[in-house]
Amino acid sequence: MYIVYSVETMCCLKLIVFSALIAVVRGERRFPDAFKFGAATASYQVEGAWNVSDKSASIWDTYSHKKPSVIVDESNGDVACDSYHKWREDVQLASELGLDFYRLSLSWPRLLPNGFSNYISEDGKRYYNDVINGLLEKGIEPVITLYHWDLPQKLQDLGGWTNPLIVEWFADYARVAYDLFGDRVKSWITINEGIVACEGTYTLGSFAPGIYSPGFGSYLCNKNVLLAHAKAWRLYDEEYKPKYGGKVSLTNQIIWPQAHSEEYEDLAELVLQMNGGLYSHAIYSKEGGWPPAVEKYIAEKSAQEGYTRSRLPPLTTEEINLIKGTFDFYALNYYTSWLVRSPKEGENIGKWPLYGCEEINALLEPAPEWPPTSSDWFFEYPEGLRRLLSWLKKTYGDMEYRIMENGYASDKRDLNDVNRVNYYKTHLEQVYLAITEDNVNVTYYTAWTLLDNFEWNDGYVSKFGLVDVDFTHPDRPRTPRSSAYYYANVISTRSLYDDDLKTNL
Ligand code: GAL
Repeated sequence: MYIVYSVETMCCLKLIVFSALIAVVRGERRFPDAFKFGAATASYQVEGAWNVSDKSASIWDTYSHKKPSVIVDESNGDVACDSYHKWREDVQLASELGLDFYRLSLSWPRLLPNGFSNYISEDGKRYYNDVINGLLEKGIEPVITLYHWDLPQKLQDLGGWTNPLIVEWFADYARVAYDLFGDRVKSWITINEGIVACEGTYTLGSFAPGIYSPGFGSYLCNKNVLLAHAKAWRLYDEEYKPKYGGKVSLTNQIIWPQAHSEEYEDLAELVLQMNGGLYSHAIYSKEGGWPPAVEKYIAEKSAQEGYTRSRLPPLTTEEINLIKGTFDFYALNYYTSWLVRSPKEGENIGKWPLYGCEEINALLEPAPEWPPTSSDWFFEYPEGLRRLLSWLKKTYGDMEYRIMENGYASDKRDLNDVNRVNYYKTHLEQVYLAITEDNVNVTYYTAWTLLDNFEWNDGYVSKFGLVDVDFTHPDRPRTPRSSAYYYANVISTRSLYDDDLKTNL
């Protein structure tokens, strides 16, 4: 049987074959058609307008005002990028970059100045409606994080994340947000990096509100964050998903802990369980609950220390079942990897007691060949991202994986940010390989961040932006860097070009 094609069809087919040939010759690596590229920011880091209208103080407002010395340049987010006033410019930039989606967070004290849902700020409602509608008008999907670390101070005064009642308060807040914006927002992140927020606050004592309580505060906080997420997820699932059909998850930042040598493989696995497993086992595993290795370790250590019960608060069967399965996708934030080993005799584990490393006496250090960035916690190891994605798939199963943050820190205001371009290129290559070689179903990639912004304890010194912001100028002018043009090109071609990509880890 012969099929007779029209001249137009033949031309079109020739064009497709020709483009495919060019792509092969150029080493094109094309992302799947449905793959989405975006960028992220967070309310306290960009909005400013800390006390306009009826907004109340967040813990970062109070902390940075009362203890400026905890921020390297003694700065704060009072004005930040002034995105509260300049959101139209941000949306325009997002549109010029060609972003498929833009991830932003709601400021809880801007929307609910009392912290509770008895009173909703008209101004907060208007502001977020404006941004969401502005994005949609440009064809950009708004991805909303409910909590990116700016807790209402009024709730902190009642114990914040260590008070179990916060689980209900958070669910009430989530309900307000779903009611107000759920008709237009289809992707929700309940809580950003619970483990980083809890460890930064209670283990390091350096994140707002700066309460040093290692081995206690962080575990209470993590437990309540997990339960709050679970309540908010179930609320959406039961009442909003049927009419809006959106998806909800929480982001998890995981460092890839690579064993320094074979003898440290068990230790590296324990670091991974502490760091990634605490949230992931509870939500994504079949059994649910705390990761067994972590639970056992802390229970035994607590007993040796003379405590009558484990410092890791138990999860009841009811709580385990409440948390288990509360996801619509896996949301991963990745920046860096570390080599893991035990400290030598007399050696201190150093400044990274995070993610339970102090608890399990694990020392984290970069490999000598990993390039440093301007953030002292952060070295470049792109392969760590692919390794992590494979580990997640192997451990928790085949599901939709979304990378919700990945980006590069520099202390320079350089517009030709070649290092950042290289970081994006090498990490996107690893995402591409995870999809094509390891069959991990990665669907979203998010650059952190659209704009230079308030980088927590690093103030305005550490810059992660695709776009430079002049913080010395009252108008906070924005100027795209080379990385913005690079990323825009990746998005418009949906492809990477590189002939010497190594496919084996
Ligand atoms: C993440 C956090 C972001 C941003 C980024 C770079 O942990 O979610 O807000 O600060 O790190 O450090």
